[in-house]
Amino acid sequence: MTITRSVILGCGGFLPGKILTNYDLAKMVDTSDAWIEERTGIKVRHIARDGETTSDLAYEAALKAIANSGIKATDIDLVIVATTTPDETFPSTATKIQARLNMLKGAAFDIQAVCSGFIYGLSVADNMIRGGSAKTVLLIGAETMSRILDWTDRGTCVLFGDGAGAVVIQGTESEGAPSDRGILNTKIFSDGRLHDLLYTDGGVSSTRTTGFLRMQGREVFKHAVTNIAAAIQASAEQAGLTVPDIDWFVPHQANQRILDGTARKLSIRPERVVSTVSQHGNTSAASVPLALSVAVEDGRIKRGDLVLMEAMGGGFTWGAALVRW
Ligand code: UT7
Repeated sequence: MTITRSVILGCGGFLPGKILTNYDLAKMVDTSDAWIEERTGIKVRHIARDGETTSDLAYEAALKAIANSGIKATDIDLVIVATTTPDETFPSTATKIQARLNMLKGAAFDIQAVCSGFIYGLSVADNMIRGGSAKTVLLIGAETMSRILDWTDRGTCVLFGDGAGAVVIQGTESEGAPSDRGILNTKIFSDGRLHDLLYTDGGVSSTRTTGFLRMQGREVFKHAVTNIAAAIQASAEQAGLTVPDIDWFVPHQANQRILDGTARKLSIRPERVVSTVSQHGNTSAASVPLALSVAVEDGRIKRGDLVLMEAMGGGFTWGAALVRW
């Protein structure tokens, strides 16, 4: 009997041209290149220029993903944008992308799960494809986190960057074996009680402003490795695979110490971990598809490889996805 598998046909990433170094930040707040690099692994991050919006970054990433997939934009019947920093309060950033791609069919909507948005998006896309309500999905993680940072708060402003990454996912008939291409499973979780550890101090219906990102970094750090490792174990177990089967680990790029800690806890060899945190910083929902694009483009991730993605962010939200590339 055959089943429908959601196959990632291709991917692409886009970073805005302006680069902000740790040295630049040291002129703005009481910090240093040494502190930032030692505590986070970050060296530089990209920042959208004035007037450059999340949909601009998303559109560029989408064009690359569409070209890399060998499909036409008109083949797409669902656009999902995972973002915390939409161009406007409404309509969704996804509908703006739909219009720019001249798509006249299907549906488009945004997902809000902060840094876990791309993993949540993979879960929604996979379930909609397997349920028969979409055939070809453009999923984008895109952020201009620079717009919601308090540039006087050294505890947060050194961590984040702007960017976008996209994938095209298509339903394909499959025997359903773990060796067959496609998304093997996704696991998503949340715990709303942890709101106060990572949030914005404003919003449309509370303050009529966007607010600024606020974070209790040390507390977030404590939850990160445990939550991420549990999601990965759940995903691997359901797929009937073990962590050593994983060829590439593509984690959310929050902090090199979190990446190292998770890899150590799960006995994933460091050379199997795709890390872009030093060059991108934390780009929230864009970080996983951006890292994925880098590793596909440089030839590390190849057809048939088992790829594990994970993320954790505000909410708290977290999750993992296992994909046979
Ligand atoms: O994607 C969403 C999920 N977010 C995350 O995963 C972030 C998780 N948290 C982290 O990555 C880390 O907790 C941080 C990088 C945010 C902070 O690193 P830390 O090792 O946990 O440092 P800390 O917050 O415990 O602060 C240590 C010291 C403090 O000074 P005192 O109290 O010891 O005198 C801070 O005030 O470092 C100080 N500090 C800084 N110093 C220089 C905090 N930020 C800075 C800074 N430059 N930028």
